[in-house]
Amino acid sequence: MIYKTLGSVLVLAATSLSLLSLNWRSEIAFSEHSEETLLLADMQSMTVEDALSRLDGPRYAHHLDKADPEKVQWGKELIFEGRAKRNGKRGKLVSIHFVCTDCHNLVKETEHPADKDPAHRLKYAVSKQIQFLPGSTLWGIYDRNHWYNDDYVKKYGDLITNARDSLANAVQVCSKYCSSGRFLEDWELDAIMHYFKDQQLHLSDLPLSKDQLMALAKSDQLGKTEKTALRKSIESSFERAFPATFLETMPRDQRKYGEGGDAQKGEQLYELSCLYCHENGRVTYLNLSKDQLSARMFWKNITTYNDLSLYQIIRHGTYAKTGRKQYMPHFTKEKMSDQQIEDLVAYIKKLAKK
Ligand code: HEC
Ligand code: HEC
Repeated sequence: MIYKTLGSVLVLAATSLSLLSLNWRSEIAFSEHSEETLLLADMQSMTVEDALSRLDGPRYAHHLDKADPEKVQWGKELIFEGRAKRNGKRGKLVSIHFVCTDCHNLVKETEHPADKDPAHRLKYAVSKQIQFLPGSTLWGIYDRNHWYNDDYVKKYGDLITNARDSLANAVQVCSKYCSSGRFLEDWELDAIMHYFKDQQLHLSDLPLSKDQLMALAKSDQLGKTEKTALRKSIESSFERAFPATFLETMPRDQRKYGEGGDAQKGEQLYELSCLYCHENGRVTYLNLSKDQLSARMFWKNITTYNDLSLYQIIRHGTYAKTGRKQYMPHFTKEKMSDQQIEDLVAYIKKLAKK
């Protein structure tokens, strides 16, 4: 009996010894591992702006030190509801026609944040059940350095030249002109900037490799050219200026009238884009639905160059007129491809039973 007990005590002692040594060994491994893990976690939680500035990048022109929670709340209300409640009082609507979220998402729109392919954007929108809209997402807007690029500058010139290099001016242009509304008051603009600051990107939002993050963690050991190279590689992992190419209405002889189009993708576009604004005439008189009537109307006009032709309306939208301020923003090439228009036409054709 005694022997047996002693035996098991010995066995126990031996086991705990080996356990101890095992612990000891894994502890070394763990501490090396955890130092790196901690550094990586530290880097991941850093804002993109801080990371770029650590690599000798300039502070953003619209840089704010800290987001004020009260202003953040007002900014959020302005963007989602079109007005903010301040000191117990409801402010005036920015626009009676639109809110920002009619045309802009506030979340990431593609798996990889530098991916601009509208086909990938649709796939992602379907998987996340978000809209497919004519305006760029406001996700990451604080971390951009140019707004209203390319053809917007060419077409609208003076109206937006001040908005190209200033986020605050870009917001003002969109409040007044894109929204068919009014300029924001100073406190409202300030509130939206605080909201954007609150939503600014962190390195964890970007698809960076462990090597990039570790190099950043030890950036004080990097030379000037290495720093610049690392900064450029971080900058290219997301979008700093959304490209914008305006296209003409597709000429009749180039239209495929849905031939070879993917009707299933067309249906997704119809739901996540057109119906978002047009279902039950939400922001317009034109009431669209997934019935034969809407489809027949589009099909009847498919060969024309008027506003009821899908080829025309998507590329040109409509204009705000006096007395009728709601208008439809057009889709640039980056926001909807010609192939996607064909997909939509294929769906409409099917729905119209033609
Ligand atoms: C009716 C549609 C519409 C509404 C409403 C609207 N926008 Fe826009 N907005 C656009 C379009 C179209 C563009 C130009 C394309 C783009 O986003 O890149 C744009 C551009 C912008 C840009 C520049 C984006 C960039 O990266 O170039 C900002 C910032 C912006 N809008 C903010 C707002 C805010 C804030 C509101 C609400 C007060 C708002 N917008 C309401 C359609 C709209
Ligand atoms: C951001 C909101 C929005 C989206 C997205 C949108 N529309 Fe519109 N659309 C409008 C508004 C606003 C009008 C202007 C009509 C008015 O005066 O009320 C309009 C006008 C139109 C017209 C012209 C009506 C006329 O009588 O001239 C057609 C056709 C149309 N849209 C089809 C579409 C299709 C197809 C899609 C999807 C590819 C789409 N719209 C996406 C808001 C939108």
